[in-house]
Amino acid sequence: MKTQHKAPLFETLLSHAKRKVTSFHTPGHKNGRGIDQKLRSFTGENSYYFDVTVFPEVYSLHDPVGSIKKAEELMARAYGVEHSFFLVNGSTVGNIAMILSACKPGNSVIVSRSSHKSIMSGIILAGVWPIWIQPKIDQNLDIIFNSSAAEIEEALNRYPEAKAVFITSPSYNGITTDLFKIAELCHLRGKILLVDEAHGAHLKFHKDLPVSAVEAGADLCVQSTHKILSALSQGSALHFNSSLMDVSRVKSAVSMLQTTSPNYLILASLDLARRQAMLNGEAMLDKVIQAAEYGRKEINRLAKFSCFTRQHINSLGYDLDQTKLTINVTRTGLSGYQIEDILAKEYNVQVDCADIFNLIAIMGIGSDRSDVQALVDALEDIEKKYSGQQQNWILQIPSLSTEMVMMPRDVYLSAKTKRVPLSKAAGFIAAQTLTPYPPGIPVLIPGERVTKEIVEYLMDLSAKDIRISGQETEELKTLKVVAS
Ligand SMILES: Cc1ncc(COP(=O)(O)O)c(C=O)c1O
Repeated sequence: MKTQHKAPLFETLLSHAKRKVTSFHTPGHKNGRGIDQKLRSFTGENSYYFDVTVFPEVYSLHDPVGSIKKAEELMARAYGVEHSFFLVNGSTVGNIAMILSACKPGNSVIVSRSSHKSIMSGIILAGVWPIWIQPKIDQNLDIIFNSSAAEIEEALNRYPEAKAVFITSPSYNGITTDLFKIAELCHLRGKILLVDEAHGAHLKFHKDLPVSAVEAGADLCVQSTHKILSALSQGSALHFNSSLMDVSRVKSAVSMLQTTSPNYLILASLDLARRQAMLNGEAMLDKVIQAAEYGRKEINRLAKFSCFTRQHINSLGYDLDQTKLTINVTRTGLSGYQIEDILAKEYNVQVDCADIFNLIAIMGIGSDRSDVQALVDALEDIEKKYSGQQQNWILQIPSLSTEMVMMPRDVYLSAKTKRVPLSKAAGFIAAQTLTPYPPGIPVLIPGERVTKEIVEYLMDLSAKDIRISGQETEELKTLKVVAS
Protein backbone atom coordinates (compact mmCIF):
# COMPACT_ATOMS: atom_id res chain seq x y z
CA MET A 1 0.00 0.00 0.00
CA LYS A 2 2.91 2.30 0.80
CA THR A 3 4.12 2.29 -2.79
CA GLN A 4 0.61 3.30 -3.89
CA HIS A 5 1.50 6.82 -2.71
CA LYS A 6 3.79 7.00 -5.70
CA ALA A 7 2.86 8.07 -9.21
CA PRO A 8 6.06 7.20 -11.09
CA LEU A 9 5.01 8.28 -14.55
CA PHE A 10 3.49 11.55 -13.38
CA GLU A 11 6.56 12.29 -11.26
CA THR A 12 8.93 11.62 -14.16
CA LEU A 13 6.92 13.85 -16.47
CA LEU A 14 6.72 16.57 -13.85
CA SER A 15 10.47 16.65 -13.34
CA HIS A 16 10.94 16.65 -17.12
CA ALA A 17 8.48 19.53 -17.50
CA LYS A 18 10.19 21.58 -14.82
CA ARG A 19 13.49 21.40 -16.67
CA LYS A 20 11.94 23.11 -19.71
CA VAL A 21 14.06 21.01 -22.05
CA THR A 22 14.80 22.35 -25.54
CA SER A 23 12.72 20.11 -27.74
CA PHE A 24 13.99 18.53 -30.92
CA HIS A 25 11.38 15.82 -30.75
CA THR A 26 7.73 15.48 -31.70
CA PRO A 27 5.18 16.97 -31.17
CA GLY A 28 5.76 20.03 -33.29
CA HIS A 29 4.17 22.56 -30.94
CA LYS A 30 7.40 22.50 -28.84
CA ASN A 31 6.19 22.61 -25.27
CA GLY A 32 3.10 24.53 -26.35
CA ARG A 33 4.91 27.49 -27.94
CA GLY A 34 3.46 26.71 -31.35
CA ILE A 35 -0.04 25.88 -30.16
CA ASP A 36 -2.82 28.15 -31.35
CA GLN A 37 -2.82 31.11 -28.99
CA LYS A 38 -6.55 30.99 -28.32
CA LEU A 39 -6.24 27.42 -27.10
CA ARG A 40 -3.10 28.14 -25.09
CA SER A 41 -4.54 31.21 -23.40
CA PHE A 42 -7.57 29.15 -22.37
CA THR A 43 -5.70 26.10 -21.12
CA GLY A 44 -2.55 27.71 -19.76
CA GLU A 45 0.84 26.49 -20.86
CA ASN A 46 1.87 23.84 -18.33
CA SER A 47 0.08 20.83 -19.73
CA TYR A 48 1.98 21.07 -23.03
CA TYR A 49 5.22 20.23 -21.26
CA PHE A 50 3.68 16.81 -20.61
CA ASP A 51 2.99 16.26 -24.31
CA VAL A 52 6.22 14.48 -25.12
CA THR A 53 7.36 11.50 -27.12
CA VAL A 54 9.24 8.26 -26.59
CA PHE A 55 12.68 9.07 -25.18
CA PRO A 56 14.77 7.30 -22.57
CA GLU A 57 13.40 9.31 -19.68
CA VAL A 58 9.84 8.02 -20.17
CA TYR A 59 10.25 5.06 -22.55
CA SER A 60 7.66 3.54 -24.79
CA LEU A 61 4.16 2.41 -23.99
CA HIS A 62 4.71 -0.59 -26.27
CA ASP A 63 7.70 -2.02 -24.51
CA PRO A 64 7.60 -0.34 -21.15
CA VAL A 65 10.56 -0.16 -18.88
CA GLY A 66 11.14 2.58 -16.31
CA SER A 67 8.28 4.75 -15.16
CA ILE A 68 5.51 3.42 -17.45
CA LYS A 69 6.36 -0.12 -16.36
CA LYS A 70 6.28 0.92 -12.70
CA ALA A 71 2.99 2.76 -13.18
CA GLU A 72 1.42 -0.30 -14.83
CA GLU A 73 2.72 -2.52 -12.03
CA LEU A 74 1.16 -0.26 -9.43
CA MET A 75 -2.12 -0.36 -11.35
CA ALA A 76 -1.96 -4.18 -11.43
CA ARG A 77 -1.31 -4.32 -7.70
CA ALA A 78 -4.16 -1.89 -7.02
CA TYR A 79 -6.60 -4.15 -8.85
CA GLY A 80 -5.04 -7.40 -7.61
CA VAL A 81 -4.23 -8.73 -11.09
CA GLU A 82 -1.11 -10.14 -12.72
CA HIS A 83 -0.70 -7.42 -15.29
CA SER A 84 -2.36 -4.15 -16.30
CA PHE A 85 -1.95 -2.48 -19.67
CA PHE A 86 -2.53 1.25 -20.06
CA LEU A 87 -4.78 2.08 -23.00
CA VAL A 88 -4.99 5.43 -24.75
CA ASN A 89 -7.91 4.66 -27.02
CA GLY A 90 -10.46 3.76 -24.42
CA SER A 91 -12.14 0.46 -23.72
CA THR A 92 -12.98 0.40 -27.42
CA VAL A 93 -9.46 -0.77 -28.15
CA GLY A 94 -9.44 -2.97 -25.04
CA ASN A 95 -12.47 -4.91 -26.24
CA ILE A 96 -10.86 -5.58 -29.60
CA ALA A 97 -7.61 -6.60 -27.89
CA MET A 98 -9.48 -9.02 -25.60
CA ILE A 99 -11.02 -10.90 -28.53
CA LEU A 100 -7.76 -10.90 -30.50
CA SER A 101 -5.88 -12.23 -27.48
CA ALA A 102 -8.36 -14.95 -26.54
CA CYS A 103 -9.32 -16.32 -29.94
CA LYS A 104 -7.73 -17.65 -33.07
CA PRO A 105 -9.44 -17.42 -36.47
CA GLY A 106 -12.32 -19.87 -36.63
CA ASN A 107 -12.90 -19.97 -32.86
CA SER A 108 -16.29 -18.95 -31.50
CA VAL A 109 -17.21 -16.66 -28.67
CA ILE A 110 -20.44 -16.39 -26.68
CA VAL A 111 -21.48 -12.77 -26.60
CA SER A 112 -24.58 -10.68 -25.95
CA ARG A 113 -26.16 -9.01 -28.94
CA SER A 114 -26.37 -5.77 -26.98
CA SER A 115 -22.59 -5.45 -26.57
CA HIS A 116 -20.71 -2.27 -27.40
CA LYS A 117 -20.02 -1.82 -31.12
CA SER A 118 -16.28 -2.42 -30.60
CA ILE A 119 -17.10 -6.11 -30.10
CA MET A 120 -18.13 -6.35 -33.73
CA SER A 121 -14.78 -4.82 -34.71
CA GLY A 122 -13.03 -7.43 -32.57
CA ILE A 123 -15.07 -10.23 -34.12
CA ILE A 124 -14.17 -9.06 -37.63
CA LEU A 125 -10.49 -8.46 -36.91
CA ALA A 126 -10.01 -11.73 -35.05
CA GLY A 127 -12.01 -13.79 -37.54
CA VAL A 128 -14.24 -15.47 -34.97
CA TRP A 129 -17.78 -16.79 -35.04
CA PRO A 130 -20.06 -14.94 -32.64
CA ILE A 131 -22.60 -17.03 -30.73
CA TRP A 132 -25.18 -14.38 -29.96
CA ILE A 133 -27.24 -14.27 -26.80
CA GLN A 134 -30.38 -12.19 -27.11
CA PRO A 135 -30.62 -9.84 -24.12
CA LYS A 136 -33.77 -9.61 -21.99
CA ILE A 137 -35.98 -6.59 -21.77
CA ASP A 138 -37.72 -5.28 -18.68
CA GLN A 139 -40.86 -3.50 -19.80
CA ASN A 140 -41.54 -2.05 -16.36
CA LEU A 141 -38.17 -0.30 -16.19
CA ASP A 142 -37.81 0.10 -19.97
CA ILE A 143 -34.25 -1.18 -19.96
CA ILE A 144 -32.22 -4.06 -21.33
CA PHE A 145 -30.56 -6.61 -19.08
CA ASN A 146 -27.29 -8.24 -19.96
CA SER A 147 -26.71 -11.95 -19.80
CA SER A 148 -27.41 -13.74 -16.54
CA ALA A 149 -25.41 -16.70 -15.24
CA ALA A 150 -28.29 -19.03 -16.21
CA GLU A 151 -28.24 -17.79 -19.80
CA ILE A 152 -24.47 -18.21 -20.00
CA GLU A 153 -24.73 -21.73 -18.59
CA GLU A 154 -27.33 -22.62 -21.19
CA ALA A 155 -25.15 -21.21 -23.99
CA LEU A 156 -22.08 -23.05 -22.70
CA ASN A 157 -23.99 -26.32 -22.62
CA ARG A 158 -25.36 -25.74 -26.11
CA TYR A 159 -22.11 -24.59 -27.66
CA PRO A 160 -19.33 -26.54 -25.92
CA GLU A 161 -16.97 -25.55 -28.76
CA ALA A 162 -16.95 -21.87 -27.66
CA LYS A 163 -13.47 -20.66 -26.80
CA ALA A 164 -14.52 -17.70 -24.69
CA VAL A 165 -17.43 -15.88 -23.10
CA PHE A 166 -17.69 -12.13 -23.44
CA ILE A 167 -19.76 -10.32 -20.79
CA THR A 168 -20.60 -6.65 -20.30
CA SER A 169 -20.93 -5.75 -16.64
CA PRO A 170 -21.94 -3.18 -15.46
CA SER A 171 -24.35 -2.25 -18.22
CA TYR A 172 -24.77 1.38 -19.24
CA ASN A 173 -27.43 1.53 -16.53
CA GLY A 174 -24.96 0.33 -13.89
CA ILE A 175 -26.48 -3.14 -13.61
CA THR A 176 -24.03 -5.93 -12.88
CA THR A 177 -24.50 -9.62 -13.42
CA ASP A 178 -23.37 -12.57 -11.29
CA LEU A 179 -19.74 -12.60 -12.40
CA PHE A 180 -18.60 -15.03 -9.69
CA LYS A 181 -20.98 -17.64 -10.97
CA ILE A 182 -20.17 -16.91 -14.61
CA ALA A 183 -16.42 -17.15 -13.91
CA GLU A 184 -17.00 -20.49 -12.21
CA LEU A 185 -19.09 -21.78 -15.14
CA CYS A 186 -16.42 -20.73 -17.61
CA HIS A 187 -13.42 -22.00 -15.72
CA LEU A 188 -14.95 -25.39 -14.92
CA ARG A 189 -15.12 -25.87 -18.70
CA GLY A 190 -11.74 -24.29 -19.47
CA LYS A 191 -13.35 -21.29 -21.20
CA ILE A 192 -11.86 -17.81 -21.12
CA LEU A 193 -13.95 -15.09 -19.47
CA LEU A 194 -13.62 -11.63 -21.02
CA VAL A 195 -15.41 -8.77 -19.29
CA ASP A 196 -16.20 -5.35 -20.65
CA GLU A 197 -16.18 -3.42 -17.39
CA ALA A 198 -15.95 -0.05 -19.12
CA HIS A 199 -18.31 1.41 -16.53
CA GLY A 200 -16.74 -0.27 -13.50
CA ALA A 201 -13.18 0.94 -12.86
CA HIS A 202 -14.33 2.33 -9.51
CA LEU A 203 -16.15 -0.76 -8.18
CA LYS A 204 -13.09 -2.23 -6.49
CA PHE A 205 -12.63 0.88 -4.36
CA HIS A 206 -15.79 0.93 -2.29
CA LYS A 207 -17.20 -1.86 -0.14
CA ASP A 208 -20.84 -0.91 -0.90
CA LEU A 209 -20.46 -1.15 -4.66
CA PRO A 210 -21.12 -4.36 -6.62
CA VAL A 211 -18.31 -6.87 -7.03
CA SER A 212 -15.93 -6.08 -9.85
CA ALA A 213 -14.73 -8.40 -12.63
CA VAL A 214 -11.16 -8.38 -11.34
CA GLU A 215 -12.38 -9.75 -8.00
CA ALA A 216 -14.77 -12.24 -9.59
CA GLY A 217 -12.11 -13.99 -11.65
CA ALA A 218 -12.24 -12.58 -15.18
CA ASP A 219 -9.30 -13.69 -17.32
CA LEU A 220 -9.23 -10.32 -19.03
CA CYS A 221 -11.19 -7.24 -18.18
CA VAL A 222 -11.24 -3.78 -19.66
CA GLN A 223 -12.12 -0.63 -17.72
CA SER A 224 -12.61 2.94 -18.88
CA THR A 225 -10.70 4.63 -16.08
CA HIS A 226 -11.95 7.89 -17.59
CA LYS A 227 -15.65 7.15 -17.15
CA ILE A 228 -16.09 7.27 -13.36
CA LEU A 229 -12.56 7.63 -11.98
CA SER A 230 -10.44 10.64 -12.86
CA ALA A 231 -8.35 9.67 -15.91
CA LEU A 232 -8.66 11.90 -18.95
CA SER A 233 -10.92 10.75 -21.78
CA GLN A 234 -9.47 7.76 -23.66
CA GLY A 235 -7.54 6.65 -20.55
CA SER A 236 -8.46 3.00 -19.88
CA ALA A 237 -6.84 -0.15 -18.60
CA LEU A 238 -6.82 -3.79 -19.61
CA HIS A 239 -6.29 -6.20 -16.72
CA PHE A 240 -4.88 -9.69 -17.21
CA ASN A 241 -5.36 -12.41 -14.59
CA SER A 242 -5.37 -15.78 -16.26
CA SER A 243 -3.89 -19.22 -16.32
CA LEU A 244 -5.70 -19.95 -19.58
CA MET A 245 -3.94 -17.34 -21.66
CA ASP A 246 -0.49 -16.10 -22.43
CA VAL A 247 0.20 -12.54 -21.32
CA SER A 248 2.61 -11.97 -24.21
CA ARG A 249 -0.24 -12.57 -26.65
CA VAL A 250 -2.27 -9.88 -24.88
CA LYS A 251 0.71 -7.55 -24.96
CA SER A 252 1.14 -7.98 -28.70
CA ALA A 253 -2.60 -7.52 -29.38
CA VAL A 254 -2.63 -4.30 -27.33
CA SER A 255 0.49 -3.12 -29.11
CA MET A 256 -0.98 -3.82 -32.57
CA LEU A 257 -3.92 -1.58 -31.81
CA GLN A 258 -2.36 1.39 -30.06
CA THR A 259 -0.61 4.45 -31.42
CA THR A 260 3.16 4.74 -31.12
CA SER A 261 2.61 8.37 -30.11
CA PRO A 262 0.45 8.07 -26.99
CA ASN A 263 -0.58 11.21 -25.20
CA TYR A 264 1.50 11.20 -22.03
CA LEU A 265 -0.95 13.48 -20.29
CA ILE A 266 -3.52 10.69 -20.62
CA LEU A 267 -0.97 8.16 -19.37
CA ALA A 268 -0.07 10.37 -16.40
CA SER A 269 -3.76 10.77 -15.60
CA LEU A 270 -4.08 6.97 -15.47
CA ASP A 271 -1.19 6.81 -13.02
CA LEU A 272 -2.79 9.50 -10.85
CA ALA A 273 -6.32 8.10 -11.09
CA ARG A 274 -5.00 4.83 -9.69
CA ARG A 275 -3.16 6.63 -6.89
CA GLN A 276 -6.21 8.72 -6.03
CA ALA A 277 -8.50 5.69 -6.04
CA MET A 278 -6.13 3.74 -3.79
CA LEU A 279 -5.54 6.55 -1.32
CA ASN A 280 -8.89 8.35 -1.23
CA GLY A 281 -11.26 6.26 -3.35
CA GLU A 282 -13.39 4.96 -0.50
CA ALA A 283 -13.99 8.41 0.98
CA MET A 284 -14.55 10.10 -2.38
CA LEU A 285 -16.89 7.38 -3.62
CA ASP A 286 -18.74 7.50 -0.32
CA LYS A 287 -19.77 11.07 -1.10
CA VAL A 288 -20.70 10.19 -4.66
CA ILE A 289 -22.86 7.25 -3.51
CA GLN A 290 -24.57 9.40 -0.89
CA ALA A 291 -25.24 12.16 -3.40
CA ALA A 292 -26.60 9.65 -5.92
CA GLU A 293 -28.84 8.02 -3.32
CA TYR A 294 -30.12 11.45 -2.31
CA GLY A 295 -30.86 12.19 -5.98
CA ARG A 296 -32.61 8.84 -6.41
CA LYS A 297 -34.82 9.52 -3.41
CA GLU A 298 -35.70 13.04 -4.53
CA ILE A 299 -36.41 11.94 -8.11
CA ASN A 300 -38.68 9.18 -6.84
CA ARG A 301 -40.67 11.83 -4.95
CA LEU A 302 -41.51 13.53 -8.24
CA ALA A 303 -44.76 12.69 -9.99
CA LYS A 304 -43.46 12.12 -13.49
CA PHE A 305 -39.92 10.80 -13.11
CA SER A 306 -38.62 7.68 -11.45
CA CYS A 307 -35.30 6.04 -10.80
CA PHE A 308 -34.96 2.35 -9.95
CA THR A 309 -33.26 1.33 -6.72
CA ARG A 310 -30.58 -1.21 -5.89
CA GLN A 311 -33.11 -3.12 -3.82
CA HIS A 312 -35.37 -3.52 -6.82
CA ILE A 313 -32.51 -4.63 -9.08
CA ASN A 314 -31.38 -7.11 -6.41
CA SER A 315 -34.87 -8.57 -6.38
CA LEU A 316 -34.41 -9.33 -10.10
CA GLY A 317 -31.21 -11.26 -9.45
CA TYR A 318 -28.75 -8.54 -10.47
CA ASP A 319 -26.85 -5.84 -8.62
CA LEU A 320 -26.67 -2.09 -9.16
CA ASP A 321 -23.90 0.46 -9.05
CA GLN A 322 -25.83 3.11 -7.16
CA THR A 323 -23.80 5.96 -8.65
CA LYS A 324 -25.68 5.60 -11.96
CA LEU A 325 -29.07 7.26 -12.18
CA THR A 326 -31.39 5.88 -14.84
CA ILE A 327 -34.30 8.29 -14.89
CA ASN A 328 -37.50 7.03 -16.47
CA VAL A 329 -39.42 9.84 -18.19
CA THR A 330 -42.37 8.03 -19.75
CA ARG A 331 -44.94 9.63 -17.42
CA THR A 332 -44.04 13.09 -18.79
CA GLY A 333 -45.43 12.13 -22.21
CA LEU A 334 -42.12 13.37 -23.64
CA SER A 335 -39.24 11.24 -24.81
CA GLY A 336 -35.90 11.02 -23.06
CA TYR A 337 -34.37 12.80 -26.07
CA GLN A 338 -36.73 15.75 -25.57
CA ILE A 339 -36.03 15.97 -21.85
CA GLU A 340 -32.30 15.76 -22.51
CA ASP A 341 -32.63 18.69 -24.86
CA ILE A 342 -34.68 20.75 -22.39
CA LEU A 343 -32.22 20.00 -19.58
CA ALA A 344 -29.27 21.12 -21.71
CA LYS A 345 -30.82 24.22 -23.24
CA GLU A 346 -32.87 25.58 -20.36
CA TYR A 347 -31.08 24.30 -17.27
CA ASN A 348 -27.48 23.91 -18.38
CA VAL A 349 -27.51 20.29 -17.25
CA GLN A 350 -26.11 17.63 -19.60
CA VAL A 351 -26.82 13.94 -19.04
CA ASP A 352 -24.65 11.19 -20.56
CA CYS A 353 -27.31 9.88 -22.89
CA ALA A 354 -31.00 9.42 -23.47
CA ASP A 355 -33.35 7.09 -25.25
CA ILE A 356 -37.11 7.26 -25.68
CA PHE A 357 -37.76 6.04 -22.15
CA ASN A 358 -34.86 7.08 -19.97
CA LEU A 359 -32.12 9.53 -19.23
CA ILE A 360 -28.83 8.20 -17.94
CA ALA A 361 -27.08 10.54 -15.54
CA ILE A 362 -23.57 9.32 -14.79
CA MET A 363 -21.90 10.44 -11.59
CA GLY A 364 -18.14 10.37 -11.27
CA ILE A 365 -15.45 10.83 -8.69
CA GLY A 366 -15.72 14.59 -9.26
CA SER A 367 -19.52 14.77 -8.75
CA ASP A 368 -21.03 16.41 -5.70
CA ARG A 369 -24.39 16.92 -4.12
CA SER A 370 -24.88 20.35 -5.69
CA ASP A 371 -24.77 18.70 -9.15
CA VAL A 372 -27.49 16.30 -8.06
CA GLN A 373 -29.50 19.16 -6.63
CA ALA A 374 -29.31 21.03 -9.94
CA LEU A 375 -30.61 17.93 -11.76
CA VAL A 376 -33.43 17.33 -9.27
CA ASP A 377 -34.49 21.00 -9.30
CA ALA A 378 -34.51 21.03 -13.09
CA LEU A 379 -36.62 17.86 -13.30
CA GLU A 380 -39.04 19.26 -10.75
CA ASP A 381 -39.42 22.41 -12.80
CA ILE A 382 -39.76 20.48 -16.06
CA GLU A 383 -42.62 18.37 -14.74
CA LYS A 384 -44.50 21.51 -13.77
CA LYS A 385 -43.85 23.31 -17.05
CA TYR A 386 -44.12 20.58 -19.65
CA SER A 387 -46.63 17.96 -20.34
CA GLY A 388 -46.63 15.87 -23.48
CA GLN A 389 -49.23 13.61 -24.98
CA GLN A 390 -49.25 10.26 -23.20
CA GLN A 391 -47.41 7.87 -25.52
CA ASN A 392 -47.75 4.15 -25.98
CA TRP A 393 -44.10 3.41 -26.50
CA ILE A 394 -43.14 -0.14 -25.62
CA LEU A 395 -39.59 -1.38 -25.38
CA GLN A 396 -39.44 -4.70 -27.13
CA ILE A 397 -37.15 -6.96 -29.06
CA PRO A 398 -38.86 -8.36 -32.14
CA SER A 399 -38.94 -12.13 -32.14
CA LEU A 400 -36.96 -12.55 -35.30
CA SER A 401 -34.61 -15.39 -35.84
CA THR A 402 -31.85 -15.77 -38.36
CA GLU A 403 -28.69 -17.81 -38.75
CA MET A 404 -25.09 -16.82 -39.15
CA VAL A 405 -24.04 -18.41 -42.43
CA MET A 406 -20.81 -16.56 -43.14
CA MET A 407 -18.10 -15.32 -40.83
CA PRO A 408 -18.36 -11.52 -40.36
CA ARG A 409 -14.67 -11.22 -41.23
CA ASP A 410 -15.15 -12.95 -44.60
CA VAL A 411 -18.10 -10.70 -45.41
CA TYR A 412 -16.14 -7.60 -44.45
CA LEU A 413 -12.78 -8.45 -46.00
CA SER A 414 -13.34 -10.69 -48.96
CA ALA A 415 -16.95 -11.03 -50.06
CA LYS A 416 -18.22 -9.23 -53.12
CA THR A 417 -21.19 -7.14 -52.09
CA LYS A 418 -24.04 -5.39 -53.80
CA ARG A 419 -27.08 -3.36 -52.86
CA VAL A 420 -30.51 -4.83 -53.43
CA PRO A 421 -33.94 -3.24 -52.85
CA LEU A 422 -34.95 -3.96 -49.27
CA SER A 423 -38.19 -5.53 -50.47
CA LYS A 424 -36.17 -8.10 -52.43
CA ALA A 425 -33.46 -8.81 -49.87
CA ALA A 426 -34.88 -11.99 -48.30
CA GLY A 427 -32.60 -14.96 -48.83
CA PHE A 428 -29.40 -12.92 -49.23
CA ILE A 429 -26.58 -12.73 -46.68
CA ALA A 430 -26.37 -9.36 -44.95
CA ALA A 431 -23.20 -7.31 -45.43
CA GLN A 432 -24.07 -4.55 -42.99
CA THR A 433 -25.20 -4.11 -39.41
CA LEU A 434 -28.63 -2.59 -38.87
CA THR A 435 -29.62 -1.54 -35.38
CA PRO A 436 -32.98 0.10 -34.75
CA TYR A 437 -33.27 2.47 -31.74
CA PRO A 438 -34.97 1.49 -29.54
CA PRO A 439 -34.02 -1.10 -28.44
CA GLY A 440 -30.49 -0.64 -29.84
CA ILE A 441 -29.97 -4.32 -30.57
CA PRO A 442 -28.88 -5.29 -34.08
CA VAL A 443 -31.51 -6.91 -36.27
CA LEU A 444 -28.91 -7.88 -38.85
CA ILE A 445 -25.20 -8.44 -38.65
CA PRO A 446 -22.78 -9.12 -41.53
CA GLY A 447 -22.90 -12.82 -42.28
CA GLU A 448 -26.53 -13.37 -41.21
CA ARG A 449 -29.25 -14.62 -43.54
CA VAL A 450 -31.88 -12.00 -44.33
CA THR A 451 -35.32 -13.50 -43.76
CA LYS A 452 -38.74 -12.45 -45.04
CA GLU A 453 -39.74 -11.53 -41.47
CA ILE A 454 -36.67 -9.31 -41.06
CA VAL A 455 -37.40 -7.53 -44.34
CA GLU A 456 -41.01 -6.91 -43.27
CA TYR A 457 -39.89 -5.65 -39.89
CA LEU A 458 -37.31 -3.27 -41.39
CA MET A 459 -39.81 -1.98 -43.95
CA ASP A 460 -42.30 -1.32 -41.19
CA LEU A 461 -39.72 0.60 -39.13
CA SER A 462 -38.65 2.57 -42.15
CA ALA A 463 -42.24 3.55 -42.90
CA LYS A 464 -42.59 4.76 -39.31
CA ASP A 465 -39.42 6.84 -39.61
CA ILE A 466 -37.69 4.96 -36.81
CA ARG A 467 -33.95 5.56 -36.69
CA ILE A 468 -31.93 2.55 -37.80
CA SER A 469 -28.26 2.94 -37.11
CA GLY A 470 -26.15 1.62 -39.98
CA GLN A 471 -28.52 2.54 -42.80
CA GLU A 472 -26.59 4.09 -45.64
CA THR A 473 -29.16 6.51 -46.97
CA GLU A 474 -31.78 8.81 -45.47
CA GLU A 475 -34.45 6.21 -46.10
CA LEU A 476 -33.81 2.48 -45.81
CA LYS A 477 -34.57 1.50 -49.38
CA THR A 478 -31.71 -0.86 -50.10
CA LEU A 479 -29.68 -3.41 -48.21
CA LYS A 480 -26.02 -4.24 -48.68
CA VAL A 481 -25.74 -7.98 -49.16
CA VAL A 482 -23.21 -10.54 -50.29
CA ALA A 483 -23.36 -10.89 -54.07
CA SER A 484 -24.02 -14.56 -54.71
C1 LIG B 1 -20.25 -0.95 -22.30
C2 LIG B 1 -19.21 -0.12 -23.02
N1 LIG B 1 -18.10 -0.73 -23.44
C3 LIG B 1 -17.12 -0.05 -24.08
C4 LIG B 1 -17.24 1.30 -24.31
C5 LIG B 1 -16.13 2.02 -25.00
O1 LIG B 1 -15.40 2.71 -24.03
P1 LIG B 1 -14.42 3.91 -24.37
O2 LIG B 1 -15.28 5.11 -24.55
O3 LIG B 1 -13.53 4.00 -23.19
O4 LIG B 1 -13.69 3.55 -25.62
C6 LIG B 1 -18.39 1.97 -23.88
C7 LIG B 1 -18.53 3.40 -24.14
O5 LIG B 1 -19.47 4.05 -23.80
C8 LIG B 1 -19.40 1.24 -23.22
O6 LIG B 1 -20.52 1.84 -22.79
